[in-house]
Amino acid sequence: MQARAMRRRTRVARRTSAATALVLALVGCATDERAAQTSLSGEQVYRETCSACHATGVANAPRLGDRKAWAPLVEEGQAVLTAHAWVGVRAMPPGGGRPDLSLLEFGRAAAYMARAAGERWEDPDAEMLERIREEEEKRVEELRAKKESGTGS
Ligand code: HEC
Repeated sequence: MQARAMRRRTRVARRTSAATALVLALVGCATDERAAQTSLSGEQVYRETCSACHATGVANAPRLGDRKAWAPLVEEGQAVLTAHAWVGVRAMPPGGGRPDLSLLEFGRAAAYMARAAGERWEDPDAEMLERIREEEEKRVEELRAKKESGTGS
């Protein structure tokens, strides 16, 4: 019964005018493209940006899928680790060195790498983003205090 219904639907679909189908396809593409431009997935960000260092381990960057390298890092928790990487740590440039990335996109890429190392990190939701921002503030404050005490004045 289901198969027959499907065949019928297919026939109806074939009758739909080609022009309508084309318009729908174009609209679909434009929407996808815009969504991709405003918000990249973790995998996209990783491929376009983070992989430059994290694929091969440039300057000791923890490599994608290297569970051993990531284990002690992910222990810090998603909010802390994402925030510290976002602010920058040693040879890890702030925001991955890509200023047009949003914190959300960066966080997704971090979660993507954590998942590749066997962790169960979800892409950040609103609550997680809030926590990352709090950790970011703390970190910036901490670094500022360090710098000031470092000058010895
Ligand atoms: C220019 C090279 C480079 C690029 C590009 C880069 N990273 Fe890194 N990243 C590093 C290095 C090096 C480290 C290790 C830093 C250390 O602990 O000394 C690191 C560490 C990290 C860490 C662990 C931070 C910690 O507290 O130890 C995370 C998370 C991370 N990167 C995420 C990302 C994400 C997400 C991107 C892409 C948006 C990215 N990185 C792009 C070089 C890079």
